[in-house]
Amino acid sequence: MQLSYKLRKVLSGDAYASARRHVKQWVIGRAPLGFDAARITQTIDRDKFQEVYTRYAMDDPGDEWPKYLEIERWMEINLKRVRDLGLDLGGRKRVLDIGCGTGYFLYICKYLGHDVVGMDLDIEPGFTEMVDLLGVKRVIWRIEAYQPLPDLGPRFDVITAHMICFNGHKSDKLWRISEWEFFLDDLAENHLVPGGQVCLELNREYDDSLYTPELKAYFEARGADVHTQRVLFNPLRPAPAAVAPAGR
Ligand SMILES: C[S@@+](CC[C@H](N)C(=O)[O-])C[C@H]1O[C@@H](n2cnc3c(N)ncnc32)[C@H](O)[C@@H]1O
Repeated sequence: MQLSYKLRKVLSGDAYASARRHVKQWVIGRAPLGFDAARITQTIDRDKFQEVYTRYAMDDPGDEWPKYLEIERWMEINLKRVRDLGLDLGGRKRVLDIGCGTGYFLYICKYLGHDVVGMDLDIEPGFTEMVDLLGVKRVIWRIEAYQPLPDLGPRFDVITAHMICFNGHKSDKLWRISEWEFFLDDLAENHLVPGGQVCLELNREYDDSLYTPELKAYFEARGADVHTQRVLFNPLRPAPAAVAPAGR
């Protein structure tokens, strides 16, 4: 019995991924010395951040965007995302983050030497100021059902979308299998290197659900490891030949 199989049996989900990452890091360790969220945060221009903070911070932002100004917390969250994708290991990658918000995730990727592109709406001035402050390249684009993404240049090794809202989140137009299929096919055919990774992090809907059982099964049929809100295609597989129309 292979060691990896035995490990998989005693550890599950995140624990297995974390153990695997530590072994990999031990074998091919690459992350810069002093690589932690606090150290990376210190590389951000403090005075300019303070200016943005002064303009937008609120006592109780609730779900409004200024919640992202709690920078230590969000840098920790994004560093975990980076590590969970193994972006702290191995060589330079090209990374696209859809709905990049402040750009913290891509800032950490850039700090690690990756070539990054963000995509977002141009609605929230605070996001624009943060992305500019972090020096993250961003393409302004509204994702819509059944519309392909624009030309984004060379293909990406990793495509992410965290806390997704572009899927008709909390509306009566919530994406079903068919909309996701179009979106994933477009990524695979036009934007992702063969064997590339796609990581989706879904938001909870009003009924507290993340996806229907049919959508979860569809993601899995395309190679996803689905772990609560996180859907990781590593790699993204072609669409299954036949999907029951009732599930769409
Ligand atoms: C909940 S925020 C998440 C921000 C960031 N990904 C994070 O996890 O910190 C959702 C992001 O998606 C963007 N967004 C919402 N609808 C979109 C659409 N149709 N196309 C592109 N971006 C969209 C918003 O502007 C915002 O930056």
